[in-house]
Amino acid sequence: MKEYLQNLLKNAIKEIDTTHEISPQLLQKIRVDRTKDRSHGDFATNAAMMFSKNLHKKPIEVANALAEKLKTGDAISKIEIAGPGFINFFVNPEYVSEQLAKMDADPRLTVPQTPAPQNVVIDYSAPNVAKEMAVHHLRSTVIGDAVVRVLEFLGEHVIRANHIGDWGTQFGMLIAYLEKKENEQGQGMDLSDFEAFYREAKRCYDEDAEFAKKARHYVVLLQGGDDYCRRMWKKLVTMTMDQNQRLYDRLDVTLKPKDIMGESLYNDMLPGIVKDLQDKNIAVEDQGALVVYLPQFKNKDGQMLGNIVRKQDGGYLYTTTDIACIKYRVEKLHAGRIIYFTDSRQAQHMETVWAICRKAGYVDDSVSLEHCPFGMMLGKDGHPFKTRSGGTVKLRDLLDEAESRVRKLLDERGSTLEGAEREQVVHNIAVGAVKYADLSKNRNTDYIFDWDQMLSFDGNTAPYLQYAYSRIRAIFRKAQVQPGKVVISNADEETLAAKLLGFAEAVQAVGEKCLPNLLCNYLFELAEIYMHFYEACPILKDGVSDDIRRSRLTLCDLTAKVLRQGLSLLGINVMEQM
Ligand code: ARG
Repeated sequence: MKEYLQNLLKNAIKEIDTTHEISPQLLQKIRVDRTKDRSHGDFATNAAMMFSKNLHKKPIEVANALAEKLKTGDAISKIEIAGPGFINFFVNPEYVSEQLAKMDADPRLTVPQTPAPQNVVIDYSAPNVAKEMAVHHLRSTVIGDAVVRVLEFLGEHVIRANHIGDWGTQFGMLIAYLEKKENEQGQGMDLSDFEAFYREAKRCYDEDAEFAKKARHYVVLLQGGDDYCRRMWKKLVTMTMDQNQRLYDRLDVTLKPKDIMGESLYNDMLPGIVKDLQDKNIAVEDQGALVVYLPQFKNKDGQMLGNIVRKQDGGYLYTTTDIACIKYRVEKLHAGRIIYFTDSRQAQHMETVWAICRKAGYVDDSVSLEHCPFGMMLGKDGHPFKTRSGGTVKLRDLLDEAESRVRKLLDERGSTLEGAEREQVVHNIAVGAVKYADLSKNRNTDYIFDWDQMLSFDGNTAPYLQYAYSRIRAIFRKAQVQPGKVVISNADEETLAAKLLGFAEAVQAVGEKCLPNLLCNYLFELAEIYMHFYEACPILKDGVSDDIRRSRLTLCDLTAKVLRQGLSLLGINVMEQM
């Protein structure tokens, strides 16, 4: 409602500002506030005073002119001018009731579908083969999956692209090492410790000349499509991604094996791309390598920086693959929008790749390329998140710890849940807490991983929101009557109603800006407003009239629905009891 009135006001001011003296920035400063004393209306603004100087009129004259433009209608029942030039709005309660009734009857909670859906490729997660998924992959996975869910809900044709690192010269060494292990241990060995596997392979490569020679040979064979090397390579990919899939499932992440579109997929395109870049004079030879110089990327001395697309030895690079990948996404997947969730250190890489693609004509201006960078995950000490011994934290261990902490927490809170039901609650809280801690911060900044904070039932956390939901559901187990038409009878109800009506806006903002924290903030504010309402407005107590009780039950029910839908868009489950 506030936003609605602010927009009305902005338009009215633009209309009376005939000499265009009010800048858009100034216009941005307009405030509409809820009044304390509702006998003077529901909302008020001091806009007339704010702009009187620019408009060369007395505040009262500005107020009158604005009131003239604003007129009353469906949403506003009355406009009054008070004091030196305050404008007071009386909201039509019938309008609010109608909007809430519409929302209640709509499974989408009146979140509109995008009128012109397009193919949106979302590049996220992207772990590397034969390596442990690291914390920056966790961030990419969690944030990317929330945006995937939101855009899909808004009706976009979302294509999940898991750009895994499944190609490169390291595979010679990895194949040689896998062969060695299989010879020692037989087929079907357990490769659960990727870190050790990679480390040992590297050690053999560095220390054993025979091994290194074989490894180099295998790279050549693999690139030539040799059957045996292909099979061994495939095994490494499958073993890694099977393990990662278990993590996705455990995290309630929507990625599936079919979403894997790794670097290897573009391998066959690379020679053609490089030749094309050369033909178009975009890539030039430089000391045996092929290099692209772009005027927009210069070093400190003003010299253009070179971007190698083919090395002296004929090998291709991460950049070359990403160029081919964009071409593929535009030509084969018909992407209208491509969104990358990689950490902020890859910003320059993305810029370079895009500039080359645009220059080569692989992407035209109608396609939007967006990098959604994110900061690092830090420990409580402000240093990069590590295990006590300084190693990288494995996601599995992280989730195990989250679950064991939640079990303890449930015991402390005297939870009576048992068996499978209890384990489901443990899962939902643990996964919810870990994801929400990440999602609720603006992704552009580093964030501090803090167990106590994320598992707290107070403050902007998943457990707090999940608990708010469960508490509402508990009311319905006791209520004897059905929810009914909303009749706004006091300020607490009005505030809650207005917040509920802001849900669609919050969801749309995430779709546009790819910032899930906007939805988190909205849900947190909603839960707080609800708690306030719940304290102030009795529902099931004796003495509450039937109409009011039924009206308040609808407000409760809608709050629960919005919390459930909102959290589900973030990839977090709610439960009836916890
Ligand atoms: N595998 C890469 C890494 O671990 C991330 C890939 C991101 N996506 C892309 N199209 N480059 O850092």
